[in-house]
Amino acid sequence: MNRSIIITGGAGFIGSHVVRLFVNKYPEYKIINLDKLTYAGNLANLKDVEDKPNYHFVRMDICDFEGVLKLMQEEHVDGVIHLAAESHVDRSIKDPFTFAQTNVMGTLSLLQAFKLHYEEVRSQESEDRMASRNHSDFCLRSTAFRFYHISTDEVYGALEMTHPEGIEPPFTTKASSGTHHLAYGERFFTEDLKYQPHSPYSASKASSDHFVRAFHDTYGLPTIITNCSNNYGPYQFPEKLIPLFINNIRHRKPLPVYGRGENVRDWLYVEDHARAIDLIFHEGKIGETYNIGGFNEWKNIDIIKVLINTVDRLLGRKEGEDMDLITYVTDRAGHDLRYAIDSSKLQRELGWEPSLQFEEGIEKTVRWYLDNQEWMDNVTSGDYLKYYEDMYAHR
Ligand code: NAD
Ligand code: TYD
Repeated sequence: MNRSIIITGGAGFIGSHVVRLFVNKYPEYKIINLDKLTYAGNLANLKDVEDKPNYHFVRMDICDFEGVLKLMQEEHVDGVIHLAAESHVDRSIKDPFTFAQTNVMGTLSLLQAFKLHYEEVRSQESEDRMASRNHSDFCLRSTAFRFYHISTDEVYGALEMTHPEGIEPPFTTKASSGTHHLAYGERFFTEDLKYQPHSPYSASKASSDHFVRAFHDTYGLPTIITNCSNNYGPYQFPEKLIPLFINNIRHRKPLPVYGRGENVRDWLYVEDHARAIDLIFHEGKIGETYNIGGFNEWKNIDIIKVLINTVDRLLGRKEGEDMDLITYVTDRAGHDLRYAIDSSKLQRELGWEPSLQFEEGIEKTVRWYLDNQEWMDNVTSGDYLKYYEDMYAHR
């Protein structure tokens, strides 16, 4: 089936992997990457697909309601996969307004545009149907319409760390670490959990999720939401823990560990997230929410040690010789203690499983950043230097 899909935020980290997957896997689809190109958007992330005939880039702000609506109408769009967002917790602490603007108002603008477009297509279809003699032959394009909103597990707030020493987790997936497979508490984020966001970032994402559900419940818009755990992999902007620390280890710069490094995150390789998005976009149930994650919890300090060992080894240094770069700094305000996602619904209902074990994923990721120093140099020049100074100089 020919489809015309807008992927918002396609020039960002996860978005670029989703665009790449869709452009390569579905040559018959028209894939429109709608991105404002903020500091986090980088078309170099998509160099390998930019000349494909089914790939189109449109520079646009998701808050531009008129522009978005016109694009949907002109391009006969039948699907939206919405990833565009301000995504960094530390930035949200310094500038919450931008997060509300993009994540809440931007999502609302996209929803309203898609709703109007959907209603126009449906009313045209019912007119055409009335005019046609053979109603049963009538194929309704609008039945394929989807608004798929990509969200985060951070909307659920923080879990307790009832077992700081680690316990056997209730589930194992291919993504779970082979050598270090622990859970740090008995509770996990499930889809029915109450939203309790703590940071301006997660509050803005929670609010956008609520709007998406409201558009489904109020107007019958065919929506789906997924909440994923922390992603890692190539093309992530080096403000986030893993690429920032790989780059700092390489250049022997201090590694600013917040608090005592005891906070726990649940890590998933970005291409596994993109595969889940593909599956859910095509086979997910309208109105549903699915959690995505790999049962792969790590304390920050443990993952940092893995990064140091891996970078050192791949650069031919003595493994662990850069441990002295670890520098404990003032904790993040409102720092969520533990995220751990239960993605068994997705596994049970749609058969999704991560494909990569954590050790393989980390090795691939470190190698990619070391092999792509030019990409890193480009994104860490100019404004990045000022960002780094503002964020870390007085910590
Ligand atoms: P990112 O910051 O790397 O990329 C965001 C992209 O959105 C950039 O290309 C940017 O230019 C674009 N963008 C920002 N504001 C825009 C606007 N107003 N209009 C149009 N485009 C705009 O983000 P990411 O890490 O790839 O995250 C993508 C999505 O996935 C976000 O919605 C985020 O909340 C969610 N998510 C991320 C993670 C993670 O670990 N990174 C985990 C779960 C969910
Ligand atoms: P991050 O990559 O910003 O993702 P998130 O806050 O969305 O989970 O941070 C991951 C963890 O690493 C989080 O607990 C904060 C911590 N962290 C540091 O200790 N130092 C840093 O410089 C950064 C960026 C993060």
